[in-house]
Amino acid sequence: MQDGARAVVVDPVQAALAALVAPGSTVIDVGGGSGTRAVPLARQGCVVTVVDSSIDALAILRRRAAEAGVADRVHAVQADADRLAGVVPQGQADLVVCHHLLEQVDDLPSTLSSLAAALRPGGRLSLLVPGLLSAVLGQALAGRAGEARAMLADPAGRWGPRDPLRRRFDIAGISADLAAAGLEVDQVTGLGVVSGLLSGRSTQASDGDLAALEQELAVHEPLRRIAGDLHVLARKPVPSNPDPAPSP
Ligand SMILES: C[S@@+](CC[C@H](N)C(=O)[O-])C[C@H]1O[C@@H](n2cnc3c(N)ncnc32)[C@H](O)[C@@H]1O
Repeated sequence: MQDGARAVVVDPVQAALAALVAPGSTVIDVGGGSGTRAVPLARQGCVVTVVDSSIDALAILRRRAAEAGVADRVHAVQADADRLAGVVPQGQADLVVCHHLLEQVDDLPSTLSSLAAALRPGGRLSLLVPGLLSAVLGQALAGRAGEARAMLADPAGRWGPRDPLRRRFDIAGISADLAAAGLEVDQVTGLGVVSGLLSGRSTQASDGDLAALEQELAVHEPLRRIAGDLHVLARKPVPSNPDPAPSP
């Protein structure tokens, strides 16, 4: 691309979700908040249940869904992710979305098992989780080598007890966590290579240039490993047919 050429900036996560669903698909968005993903998916014709612990976020969700004309396809359920099995049907969802929540939950294996249990066989899971290596490099670039080393040494990727996140993820770790929950990873994409490293520091780049640069960097394989967020798509395997009973 020539200097100054304008890139068409798309939201890669929304594009990935859009490709997984069709009108009538059932979607559960756990920790879906005010509907950043739920409302566009409902616009596509999906029936979306948002499970979130915040009454305030769900109130905003209902208002946004009404404004978008999709209130009949968006259901807001106030519940903790721990209680997912009690508030959504089991084994039926075409797509479960869980973005920016796993870094906060108490019991990661239990939450991942609940997400898997909500999916139908062949259904897909979309996770957005904070990348460990990006945070380590961000600390190092900010002159906090001690915190960077602590994050690398800690199994949860935290820099200490006052770290606001309960955990961070690398590709091998989240893949193993998903396998333990009975899910197969289809794809891991890195989001926000530069913004993760900037970690709140200012830049002279415009928002549009930065977004375009992120899009161009994201296709370079080594960089996805140091992206600020990892977007993981996984699937629930379809059980293979048991061997037919031997004929008498
Ligand atoms: C960082 S926001 C992410 C919102 C949305 N998923 C997104 O990516 O834009 C986290 C959301 O999870 C909700 N939340 C936090 N802990 C939760 C829990 N244990 N169970 C259900 N929702 C939770 C919060 O209320 C909030 O709406």
